[in-house]
Amino acid sequence: MTDTTTLTELETVTAVMMGRRTVKQFLAQPVARETLQQLIEVAVWAPNHRLNEPWRFYVLGDGARTQLAKIAGGITQRKILEAGGEATVAERKGTEAGAAWLGVPTLLYITYLTDSNPEINLENYGAVCCAIQNFTLAAHALGIGTSWSSGAVAAAPELHALVGAGAAEQMAGLFRVGYLDPNVTPGSSRRSPGSTFTRWIDEVPVG
Ligand SMILES: Cc1cc2nc3c(=O)[nH]c(=O)nc-3n(C[C@H](O)[C@H](O)[C@H](O)COP(=O)(O)O)c2cc1C
Repeated sequence: MTDTTTLTELETVTAVMMGRRTVKQFLAQPVARETLQQLIEVAVWAPNHRLNEPWRFYVLGDGARTQLAKIAGGITQRKILEAGGEATVAERKGTEAGAAWLGVPTLLYITYLTDSNPEINLENYGAVCCAIQNFTLAAHALGIGTSWSSGAVAAAPELHALVGAGAAEQMAGLFRVGYLDPNVTPGSSRRSPGSTFTRWIDEVPVG
């Protein structure tokens, strides 16, 4: 590989990494099964210690999406009622919350295998996060946006059961996936320079 090739590759991956944003509004068209599978095939090339391959991917079909909408609606409704809100408001907001999830073209639930050994458990979580980043970057390169959700809906035990995830699996995230809408401006984001978080340890006290 020549220096020129390396530079071009670096520019390409940098543009993808820096261009990816959390996206929650998409074109209505769902992402085709073959495309999703292609992205998952890229995702699984993530580093994973002991080659544990701890990731599991669940693509929600229509029936599961309808159930998810009910779960999400129930969570919103309960939250409002517990905070002392009116029943009619709780019901309306619940219905809206469910509809919002149903409006997402494609939903992907990702888990990782837990382990009773905390060292392996941490490695497995690290590995699934690497796979997720692979997935989101490859998706972005295809004009597909993603957003990572880890809140109450993603963490709902009913969702875990709905997709048939095992007791040894832990939710890593629920992902909205869909084609980028050219009429929607990507959300802005910011990062502090990496140098802010870098310490060069050139000298250590003699112990
Ligand atoms: C482990 C993890 C969990 C996240 N959970 C949520 C979430 O529950 N809801 C949400 O809106 N964004 C969630 N995000 C997305 C971040 O908020 C988002 O990446 C951050 O705001 C930076 O924006 P960017 O992705 O456009 O760079 C999560 C990200 C990570 C890595």
